[in-house]
Amino acid sequence: MQRIVTIVSLVLAGSLIGCKVAQAEQHQAAKAARMEQFNQQKFGMFIHWGLYSLPAGEWKGKTNYAEWIMLQADIPVKEYEAFAARFNPVAFDAKAWVSLAKAAGMNYLVVTAKHHDGFCMYDSKYTDYDIVDATPFKRDPLRELAIECVKQDIQFCVYYSVVDWHHPEFPQKYSQIRKEYPTGYHGVSNPHANLDVYAKYMKDQVEELLTNYGEVGILWFDGGGSFRNYDRKKLLDGQNLVDMIHRLQPSCLINNRLGFGADYGTPEQQIPEGTLNTAFEVCMTLNKHWGYNKNDRDWKDARTIVQNLVDVASKGGNYLLNVGPTAEGILPDESANILKEVGQWLKINGESIYGSESGPSQANIRLKVEGCMTQKPGKLYLHVFSWPENQIIFMEGMKGKRVKKIYLLANPTKTSLKFDAHERSLFIHIPQTAPSQYDSVIVVELDKSEPLEENTEEPLVMG
Ligand code: GLC
Repeated sequence: MQRIVTIVSLVLAGSLIGCKVAQAEQHQAAKAARMEQFNQQKFGMFIHWGLYSLPAGEWKGKTNYAEWIMLQADIPVKEYEAFAARFNPVAFDAKAWVSLAKAAGMNYLVVTAKHHDGFCMYDSKYTDYDIVDATPFKRDPLRELAIECVKQDIQFCVYYSVVDWHHPEFPQKYSQIRKEYPTGYHGVSNPHANLDVYAKYMKDQVEELLTNYGEVGILWFDGGGSFRNYDRKKLLDGQNLVDMIHRLQPSCLINNRLGFGADYGTPEQQIPEGTLNTAFEVCMTLNKHWGYNKNDRDWKDARTIVQNLVDVASKGGNYLLNVGPTAEGILPDESANILKEVGQWLKINGESIYGSESGPSQANIRLKVEGCMTQKPGKLYLHVFSWPENQIIFMEGMKGKRVKKIYLLANPTKTSLKFDAHERSLFIHIPQTAPSQYDSVIVVELDKSEPLEENTEEPLVMG
């Protein structure tokens, strides 16, 4: 009998391990394909929308707040909760938002399911502190967005905050920000808070997000850094959480802000100096705030956004650009106009961005004008930010004989530009007028049979 039990349990354990291995393999294959798709997508829309959109960045005469207003303005929890009764975004139109992302040339959308304030912008069965149960609006905007994303072929992704200033079992003691806000998130912090209970809540909510909203491209966690001095995997039941995500949606990516299970990095508000040794996505605001701030008119212009996108792509990354809708559910006109302009540029020049790889190392090949490079097999894209008056683009370090043809991407006939190749220098003769005020793209078609980069220790110095 004892033997039978042992054999049965061995067989069971074996099949469990087999199952885990199969699941891990399935995830690896799905992830490889998804990473390729992620690189193809390159440009996404970040949406910060929640109860904080209602005060619109202003509290008791101070105007520099946004999604952190509950904490930064020290709003008593009851007063903050009361925003819910007034939150009625009747102008919300999922179709309009997704259409705008589409018009901007974006391929995915990451929307706040729950930010640090703990208010859920979707219908969660694990709390009543959500948009369906607690507001007069009663609709689930995440569901509407998810459906619309499928219709318009935009990938739907969700932001989920690990930090929760509202949940009574989110213990303040693990948070780095408690130093800045010593009285606690809630005004009254719970000294007996049990993180296990909170970890279960988080896992349950992630499960419903991955179950009720179709395919989710990314779980964009935030705030896991609060736990950075602790073993986050242990504290947050991390392995189980990640295993569950991989099981429910093997191709769903996890960003690096949970603190484990990361598929890619998320530099915030800045573009790295060069390529990184991981896949990455730069997230950035369109003005100075993530959530809606009615006083913030400090918009980046379309030129800046295009050049940022290109700069990020030239380093191999994605660009996730934020919009902050109003409490009525409207995307501010300014953001919409900028995004549409960027989309116009992408319509003509998208080939040089979507699915491109980082440009060749500038240590070997140097583009001697303000700009940068991206590439695809057999093609090098020169992104020229300021068009030289002498009508010559000069490059160093290229094997000139490799060049087959050079043309402006904006020119539908792909008419060849004249060029001279001397050893490792390339001179391209360009027309007087730049095709774009933001970034004019020149395509250098190459003979694929030879390596692109000169393997030279000493760069050629032109006299
Ligand atoms: C920071 C902010 C947070 C915002 C996020 C977006 O972590 O604290 O409010 O959502 O950046 O990257």
